[in-house]
Amino acid sequence: MFDVQAILEQLTTEEKVRLLCGKDAWHMHGVARLGIPDITLTDGPHGVRLSGSMALDGSAAPATVFPVEAAMAASWNPALLEQAAAAIGDECQALDVGVLLGPGVNGKRTPLGGRNFEYFSEDPFLSGAMASAFVKGLQSRGVGACLKHFAGNEQETRRFLINAQIDERTLQELYVEPFAKVMRENPPWTVMGAYNAVNGVHACQSPDLLQRILRDQLRFDGLVMSDWVAVKDKAASHINGLDLEMPGPGERDAELLAAYETGELTDDALNDRAGRVLTLIKQVLDNKETVIVDWDKHHELAVQLAAESIVLLKNDGKHLPLKAEQKLAVIGDFGRNPRFQGGGSSHMTPKRLSDALSAIGQRADVTFAEGYTETRVSPEQLEAAVDVARDADRVILLTGTTDSMESEGFDRSDMKLAPDHLRLIRALVEANPDLTVVLHSGSALETRQFEPFASAIVQAWLPGEGGGEALARVLFGELSPSGKLTESFPIRLEHNPTFETFPGTRETVSYDEGLFTGYRYYDTKHLPVQYPFGHGLSYTQFKLEGLSYNPDQRQVQCKVTNTGNVAGAEVVQLYIHDEQSTYKRPEHELKAFAKVLLQPGESQIVTLQLDAHAFAYYVPHLDRFAEESGRFELRLGTSSRDIRETLWVDIESDTEVRLLPTMGDTVQDWLNDSRTAPILQAEIDRLAFKESHPMYGIALGFPIPQLLQFIPHMGYDDAEAERVRAHLQSQWDAL
Ligand code: BGC
Repeated sequence: MFDVQAILEQLTTEEKVRLLCGKDAWHMHGVARLGIPDITLTDGPHGVRLSGSMALDGSAAPATVFPVEAAMAASWNPALLEQAAAAIGDECQALDVGVLLGPGVNGKRTPLGGRNFEYFSEDPFLSGAMASAFVKGLQSRGVGACLKHFAGNEQETRRFLINAQIDERTLQELYVEPFAKVMRENPPWTVMGAYNAVNGVHACQSPDLLQRILRDQLRFDGLVMSDWVAVKDKAASHINGLDLEMPGPGERDAELLAAYETGELTDDALNDRAGRVLTLIKQVLDNKETVIVDWDKHHELAVQLAAESIVLLKNDGKHLPLKAEQKLAVIGDFGRNPRFQGGGSSHMTPKRLSDALSAIGQRADVTFAEGYTETRVSPEQLEAAVDVARDADRVILLTGTTDSMESEGFDRSDMKLAPDHLRLIRALVEANPDLTVVLHSGSALETRQFEPFASAIVQAWLPGEGGGEALARVLFGELSPSGKLTESFPIRLEHNPTFETFPGTRETVSYDEGLFTGYRYYDTKHLPVQYPFGHGLSYTQFKLEGLSYNPDQRQVQCKVTNTGNVAGAEVVQLYIHDEQSTYKRPEHELKAFAKVLLQPGESQIVTLQLDAHAFAYYVPHLDRFAEESGRFELRLGTSSRDIRETLWVDIESDTEVRLLPTMGDTVQDWLNDSRTAPILQAEIDRLAFKESHPMYGIALGFPIPQLLQFIPHMGYDDAEAERVRAHLQSQWDAL
C-alpha cells in the first residue's frame, strides 16, 4: 500500500499536525495530495452505527443490532461473542468502516452507572475475557477495534469534569486489568481515552495513564484517540501521548504548532503521533475487503447470543417453560415496541427487529395489553391489563428501564422499576398469581418489591434486534436458559459499597471502596444479596465433581454432568481464595470459566486454563503484579455463592512479597513475620517477658526502639537493653 516512513518524510509540519485531528465527526484526515484517503470510524460497540452526522436521530445506516455488552457478557460464551464481533466486522467492511468504536471495558462500581449496559461485567477478568474475544472476532475481519474508555471512567455524572481519585492498586486490579488482559491476548488497533480526570489529570492528557501505564506497562503499540470532544488542552494531550483528537474539524492546530515551535512538542513526538495515524490508515486500507453481508445469518446470530444471555433469576415450582397449549397474557408495551438497546452513542438502527409479542404469538394463544406507556400506567391501561391477566392461564409481563431511566449521559437515580410498573405488577398478581416478570435493563434492578409474588423472573437485558425471538425460545423451553449474572444484584441499592461515595462531589469521586466492589464486597462481608454474581437457573441440573489441579500446566479440571431431562449449558466458574496475603484481598476472585453444553445424562471433562494473573495481585511496594507464596483454595461453582468443590494448592513464588519488618517496626510486626519472629521471640523468652505480664499487650504495639527503652523498667539494666538491640540488629542484618 504505502510506506509510512516515506510518507512522513514528505509531509510538512502543518500536514503532520493536521493528521492529529479528525476531519469531521466520523472520519480521520488522510493526505489528499499524496492519495491517502480519509478513513471512517463509527460506534459501536454492539453493532455498526454508521451515521452521516453527529445526529442521534436514528439516521444511521441499518445494521444488525446485537445484544448490548452487558447482555453479551451474560452469555459467558466468548466463542459466540467472537462470532458476533466477526459478523460486526463484516458489516463494517460492507459499510466501509475501518474502526469500530468498541468494546467498552469500564467497570461497574455501582448498578447506577448510566453506561453499565455498554460494559461487560463488575469483574475485571470476565470483562477482559469477553473484550478479548470481541476484539479477536472483529479484527479477524480486518476491522480495527477501539478499546474504551481508558481509564477510570465509571460514571456519567459530570463525566467531562469529574476527577476520579483511585489508589494505584485499585486502578490496576479493577480498572486497568480488563484493558491489560486484552493487550496480552488480542491487542486492539486503537484505544480511546476517557472524558474524566484520574487522580487530578484529564485522561486524554495524562502521562501517567497514556505513557506509564498504556505504553510502558501494557506495551500498547496502536493508536490512542480521544473520546469525542474530550481534549481539554490540545498541546498537553499530544505531548503526553494522545495520537488523535476526535471529532474534527479541529481548530486548534495553531496551538500544537506553537508547542512545536517552542520545542515542547518534539520532532520525535510529532513524528511518532503522525506515524501512528498513518499506520492505522494503512492497516485499514491493507485489510479492506469486499463483503456481501448475509443479514439473515447475522440476525440469527443476534438471536442466539440474546438467547444465551437470558438469565433465569427465579423459577418457582418449575413455572417455566411455558407450554403451547396454555392461554397466555402478554402485558407490556415492550412486547410490541421492544426495549432492545440503550440510549446515546451506541444507539443503532436495526436491520430487522423481532418483538416478543409476535414471537410468543407464533407459539401459543396470546392476548395482549400494553400495560404502560414508558414509565406511566393510566387507569385504563391498568384495567385492560388486569382483565387480560384474569382470563389467561399464565401472565408474562415485560418491564424494565426506559431511555429516560438508563442511558449514556446520566446515571440512574435508583435501582427500582418505575413506581407505576410496580403498581401494575401488584394488580396483575391479584388478578392472576401465575406471573412471569421479564426484565429489560442494562444493569441490576431491585427485585425485592415483587420477588415474593412473581413465579418466575427472567433477566432479558437490552437484547438487540433478536430479543423477542430469543425470549420466546427460552420461555417455551426450545433452549434451556444458560445466561449467568455478570454483576451482583444487591437486595437494595443502599447495600452497594459505593452508596455513600457515588457519584461524588462536584469535583471528585473517590473510589474509597477500593477493591471491594460487587461480589468482592458482598462475599468478603458475607452479606446476603438478591442474586449473586454468576447466578442463573436452567431447566436442567448439573453435577460438578472431581476437581483437580495440574501445577505444571496451570490447569484445573473437573467433570460436569447434566443430571436432568433436557439439554442445557452450564457455566463452570473457578474462584480463587488466597489464605493469607501481605495486602488484604477479596474473599475470592473469578479466575477462569467455561460454558459446556450437555445432553441429558451426558458428562464432559472440562479443562480450565489459568492465566498469568490467576494467583497474582498488584503489590503496591513492588509497583507490579506478583504472586505471593502460600496456600490458595480453588473454588469451583456455578455462582460466587454456589461453590460445589474446593481444593487447596500451594504456590511457590520467586518473588518475595512480604515486606521485611525493620528495626523501626513494631513488636507485633516482628512476631507476625516468620523471618523475624524467631529472632525476637528468643529475646522475649530470655527476658522472661510472658504473655501474662500486664504490659505484654501494650508492648506488642511498641516499635522496637520503644521496646528497648522499656527493658530497664522490667528490672534489667541498660546494658541488657543494649545487648538485645545489638543482637536484634545483627540477626536482622543477616536476613
Ligand atoms: C462516547 C464514546 C463514543 C463517542 C462517539 C462519546 O460520547 O463516550 O463511547 O464512541 O461518543 O460517538
